[in-house]
Amino acid sequence: MQVLVYKDAATIAKAAAAIFAGEIAKKDGYVIGLATGSTPVPTYQELIKMNKEGVLDFSKVISYNLDEYVGLEPTHPCSYRYFMNEQLFDHINIDKNNTHVPNGITCNAEEYEEAIKAAGGVDLQLLGIGSDGHIGFNEPAEDFVYPTNIVKLTDQTIDDNARFFNSRDEVPTSAISMGIGTIMSAKRIILIATGKNKAKAIAAAIKGPVNPAMPASILQMHQNVQFLLDEDAASEL
Ligand code: PGA
Repeated sequence: MQVLVYKDAATIAKAAAAIFAGEIAKKDGYVIGLATGSTPVPTYQELIKMNKEGVLDFSKVISYNLDEYVGLEPTHPCSYRYFMNEQLFDHINIDKNNTHVPNGITCNAEEYEEAIKAAGGVDLQLLGIGSDGHIGFNEPAEDFVYPTNIVKLTDQTIDDNARFFNSRDEVPTSAISMGIGTIMSAKRIILIATGKNKAKAIAAAIKGPVNPAMPASILQMHQNVQFLLDEDAASEL
């Protein structure tokens, strides 16, 4: 596990995009795992810029997203499919048929897991972290859940994500998410965290025991993971 601390979110975005560019160039059919939320947006902006400048080609890239809210149609403005189209896919030369986000209506967990396996697994997975330590939507629990599954969101996650909805009542209470095993099967992982509200989760994930009550702590067991943090997120290390 490598921990890299940067001065701000913009510098992290450049570093993360450079990792993506170096990895994607390695082979046709490279599989990237993508995340939603506020944290990856500057990275996506860098990827869009590099694609427009002609230094990063997505035409042969395949993507799988971590998660989706249960009950939201892919066309719903708060769905993660909609978010990905708006924040990244509509602005780069990726074939939309090669982009995959779990379906929150059919909740095809097994099918999603099998599709990732059939694609050869994720080569590079991008992660954020919840203030409660979740990765994907794998919330603190008594046991790690390994395959793609349906997860009940914690009150903390619902509070955190209410900012994307008109009111807290509109936030779905469950989600379909890649499991801990799906994430751990990725060949390389980069986790980005910025801001003071992530500092406690980051410290527990990196220095605490590996424990399903702090889902991100499982990453201590991964052989190729880098944490890209700003000074605030790293402040309790
Ligand atoms: P955020 O979400 O980037 O919006 O803070 C991160 C996460 O929940 O994984």
